[in-house]
Amino acid sequence: MVCGIIGITANEDSLAKPLGGLIKEALKRLEYRGYDSVGFAVITRGGVLEVRKSKGMIDAVAQRLGFDSFTGSTGIGHTRWATHGGPDDRNAHPHTDCGGRVAVVHNGIIENHRELKELLVAQGHEIRSETDTEVVPHLIELFKARGYSPYDAFKKTVEALRGAYAIVAIDVDEPNRLFFARNTSPLVIGIGAQGRFIASDVVAFINYARKVIVLRDGEAGYVTLNDLLVEEMTRDGDTITWRPVDVSSRLRTVEWSPEMATKEGYSHFMIKEIHEQPYALASTLAAARESVESLARLLAKSERVLLLGAGTSYHAALTSALLLRKYAGLWAEALISSESSWYLKTLRSGDVVIGVSQSGETIDTLKGIKEARVRGALTAAVTNVIESTIAREVDLTAYIRAGPEIGVAATKTFTSQVALLSYLAVRTGELRGVLKQSNTSPVYKALEEIPGVASAIISSVERHASWLADAMCTKSSAYYLGRGLGLPIAMEGALKLKEIAYVHAEAYPAGESKHGPIALVEEGFPVLFVVVGSDDEDLIKSNMEEMRARGARIIVVSPKNAEEISSLADFQFEMPVLHEIASVITYVIPLQILAYYTAVRKGLDPDRPRNLAKTVTVF
Ligand code: F6R
Repeated sequence: MVCGIIGITANEDSLAKPLGGLIKEALKRLEYRGYDSVGFAVITRGGVLEVRKSKGMIDAVAQRLGFDSFTGSTGIGHTRWATHGGPDDRNAHPHTDCGGRVAVVHNGIIENHRELKELLVAQGHEIRSETDTEVVPHLIELFKARGYSPYDAFKKTVEALRGAYAIVAIDVDEPNRLFFARNTSPLVIGIGAQGRFIASDVVAFINYARKVIVLRDGEAGYVTLNDLLVEEMTRDGDTITWRPVDVSSRLRTVEWSPEMATKEGYSHFMIKEIHEQPYALASTLAAARESVESLARLLAKSERVLLLGAGTSYHAALTSALLLRKYAGLWAEALISSESSWYLKTLRSGDVVIGVSQSGETIDTLKGIKEARVRGALTAAVTNVIESTIAREVDLTAYIRAGPEIGVAATKTFTSQVALLSYLAVRTGELRGVLKQSNTSPVYKALEEIPGVASAIISSVERHASWLADAMCTKSSAYYLGRGLGLPIAMEGALKLKEIAYVHAEAYPAGESKHGPIALVEEGFPVLFVVVGSDDEDLIKSNMEEMRARGARIIVVSPKNAEEISSLADFQFEMPVLHEIASVITYVIPLQILAYYTAVRKGLDPDRPRNLAKTVTVF
């Protein structure tokens, strides 16, 4: 389950707004993690557990259930993306025990929930939902009934769980404590002047707390207004040991400003984040040398590198594999994370495996990285999130610095990933002696100019906003074609159109399109070509001719001086003439904007595409 969870404990009198309102605000910021149902639980001043939850999106549910009016000093909230049990009121979190004294929110999947349910039912517990989560409050209740204190009952419960979880629980019998446990799913504690927070992501509480501690797998504990206990659980066969952890050295201050997690006047996070690309690219590139140096030195001595990624991050991995081959002379291959274990079977010692992941939490990528480690590979990560799970799993991490990305569709993190990976390829080529200074200086110069170029592209493409909106909104299908470096960009453009505008968009190697896909092309069928660099220009022209002859409506993203290409197109996104590395970083921008305006014109909400969640922590 990919969900957002929040826990707050505060001095009620010092709160800027009622606790229910604070929970709502946090859930709004976590909405990118899921939004099919929502709920909260608070312990009131009178020591009563109040729970409200429902199917639906946060604003509507919060208004209907009156979130803002609930006061109290300790509470939890949850926004859900359903896996176990459909998205309905019953399955919405929080879940409670039979006695209504314990409430729990959870992100992840408890793998042994069936056997735990059977055990609980046999003990007389009434299970009311279809979720895996509901076993947790009942187990706490069961252990309390056996004489354990609330915290010890919580720990006994955690000991019984198998799977991935981030859990926050509250208990009327310890009304000032937030109990927490983490295994695989992210959880971060925030310490602020008004209270203490625990959430799936710092964006949930960044307005109120910027001092944070990222929890690690196997950790559990509790937090109150004045106290924090973190313990680490280890299993050795049937023996379980708990050991207190000193987390003081892990306290750090988040540099992101609260404004970075708001829409700042834009209609959607997606378009805001598209517009942020010049800044994201500038921050990423300014620190790129420092960020990639250790990894480049490792690659300089290596024979083979595999890059793993899912979705958009896979497309970034593909560009990287091509660039490492071309600029560093290195054997490099990109793998879809969820398919990677088939390929990882033939890893050789000394191979390097790089996980590319914006969030650093995608479970398929994490699994591939873990497998690579077990097989003796050196591992690295390229991610946007400091201390994310994947970052902590690997030997080396190179960070992009795109800032928080809230829109479900990745935009600024993709261009930042490609920028950092381009830098890595060039630097590796330099260290391997494949590139001489005369070759590297123009590339570094081109990279310096990227933020300005991105800004100019955004302004020029936005001028065509209404044409863009009309272009695709009546179409049910489109092809996105490219060759070489143009192909991963075409793939990324097609993914954007699919996921937010619900247009079936298929990316294909342009040369392969005549081996089958062309059969679908008839009068007016949209075919988009991405032309990056001049290597394959003549071949692309033939592919365009083939499509044109069948009546395709041709749209092309290509350098403005590519006149013959332009003459074959019905519409050209005129891109600046750039070094191919600069083109591969920036030429996706028109395709992001095209997808955005198509979604808006169709009346869809690009920030909340159906069935999707931003961070996918399920297999
Ligand atoms: C697409 C998108 C997803 C992610 C994918 C991997 O717009 O956002 O396809 O790219 O779920 O996520 P990360 O990069 O966090 O591993």
